[in-house]
Amino acid sequence: MKVVRRIADLETAPGTGLVPTMGSLHAGHRALLAAARRENERVVMSLFVNPAQFDDATDLAAYPRDDARDLAIAAEEGVDVVFAPDADELYPDGFATWVEPEHTGAEGAARAGHFRGVATVCLKLFNIVRPARAYFGQKDAQQVAVISRLVRDLNVPLEIRVVPIVRDADGLALSSRNVRLSPEERERALGLQRALHGAVGASDPVAAARAALNGLAPDYVETVDLGGATVLAAAVRVGSTRLIDNVLLEGDLA
Ligand code: PAJ
Repeated sequence: MKVVRRIADLETAPGTGLVPTMGSLHAGHRALLAAARRENERVVMSLFVNPAQFDDATDLAAYPRDDARDLAIAAEEGVDVVFAPDADELYPDGFATWVEPEHTGAEGAARAGHFRGVATVCLKLFNIVRPARAYFGQKDAQQVAVISRLVRDLNVPLEIRVVPIVRDADGLALSSRNVRLSPEERERALGLQRALHGAVGASDPVAAARAALNGLAPDYVETVDLGGATVLAAAVRVGSTRLIDNVLLEGDLA
């Protein structure tokens, strides 16, 4: 496995699958890497904690980083190339062009500038790596919606592949933020997936999930259109940790 830190050192090749990540890898990321490994001749994983998508400097500073562990996991999953640039490599002095997605839903409204940072870094990664396919998790449903729209609107020549949410044995969606939960908070956090799953099939799933979230203050509950599928998505705060989750209401993931 090659680790590349400079854009100039990264080779492109047909049949490449790209898995963009911010590191701190868990079984959710592994599922994306495994799907990419199955479907492509060559797998590139990007490892970059993108400062542009953090609306809060403390959140960026607190983001967990462990490159050695992440590289070991990438190697285990059969990644060919890890692209791990510094922030200066992707945002050099004078950087001045941004992708500004519209219609970013309640998740976008709750996180000013977040999807601008996500869309900009993903388009840069697509142009640098030139993959045939790029892999994203259903976990971040609004991110899937934004990136799918970006690819259609700006005619980016690649296919977006969406991988279902990977959960812990107790049902909690895997997230690098879960380590911040105390045992008691984790117990409360389980109410989020319970409320969402319980609302599938209700005549008004948003209202049903909202009612079932009793005790957990939701940032929002809404449906998100992913093209061929609709999901019921919600964000809650448990202590100082913000958690998001969603369930498929209808259709199929790409
Ligand atoms: P990150 O949070 O590292 O997530 C990388 C990818 O893993 C995303 O597509 C995310 O949806 C997926 N993922 C995370 N948890 C998952 C789970 N439990 N099940 C399935 N997939 C899961 O998302 C980002 O990084 C960044 O915004 C990025 C796209 C890399 C741009 O900076």
